[in-house]
Amino acid sequence: MSYETILAESSEGIGTLTINRPGALNALNSQVLAELTSAAEAFDADPEVRVIVITGNEKAFAAGADIKEMAEKSYAEVYLADWFAGWDRLTRVRKPIIAAVAGYALGGGCELAMMADFIIAADTAKFGQPEINLGVMPGMGGSQRLTRAIGKAKAMDLCLTGRFIGAEEAERSGLVARVVPADELLAETRKAAAGIAQKSLLATIGVKEAVNAAFETTLSQGLLFERRTFHAAFGTQDQKEGMRAFSEKREAKFTDS
Ligand code: CAA
Repeated sequence: MSYETILAESSEGIGTLTINRPGALNALNSQVLAELTSAAEAFDADPEVRVIVITGNEKAFAAGADIKEMAEKSYAEVYLADWFAGWDRLTRVRKPIIAAVAGYALGGGCELAMMADFIIAADTAKFGQPEINLGVMPGMGGSQRLTRAIGKAKAMDLCLTGRFIGAEEAERSGLVARVVPADELLAETRKAAAGIAQKSLLATIGVKEAVNAAFETTLSQGLLFERRTFHAAFGTQDQKEGMRAFSEKREAKFTDS
């Protein structure tokens, strides 16, 4: 499959998707949406891929939804097209997704990064929800995922003022899992991805489903879901292999069975 606005390549169990519209600071237009979601779904279905990385370039992960594409649209057009609903496809990908963010992650760019399971940021990263400056508001999950990630006070601050925060503040706020020097971003992300790729896929998908359940259910239902998923692991070879390998003081070799 060939794409025009992204690059997709996979090796050693890691599928990497690079947004590639440098002239527009990787602004997310309909073509990026279609290509990125299709490529992520293709990696999800590819048995050779065990973890997915989404990244941009040094200057921008993505500076938002494409303002020029949206500027003249009417209410009827965006309502009937259910503008941005297509991004939900990315959140249905079952394999772990890491966002590797350098430079601008603004508006839809910040929201895309938050659709990943966690974010590794370069020390050059800048996050923000500046839609307020355009006379609109977040539309790809910013008011919901940002609030869940960093709480009401910071989410209101970012969405109402439109100010950008750097990588350090993003990490302090809980938006970002790790901050690394910009020139080590891809290597560090690949290292994290390679580690995840070696685990049992049954367990990594189980973790993803259980953590995400925390955002959708009550505590008691979430705990029950976690316990049942944990119990289900005892029906797998990988649980036997993982626990035996520990006792035998050797590396486990998981087979996703
Ligand atoms: N959409 C379309 N084009 C964009 C863009 C965007 N979101 N962001 C940047 N570009 C384009 C610029 O128009 C410019 O193109 P031209 O050279 O053809 O004029 C090119 O990318 C480079 O941008 P700048 O010259 O502006 O670069 P800069 O370094 O001076 O500024 C910036 C960088 C501060 C990020 C600035 O580009 C900017 O403010 N971008 C818009 C950020 C924004 O408002 N994002 C939210 C979009 S709305 C949204 O995302 C809704 C939602 O919830 C999903």
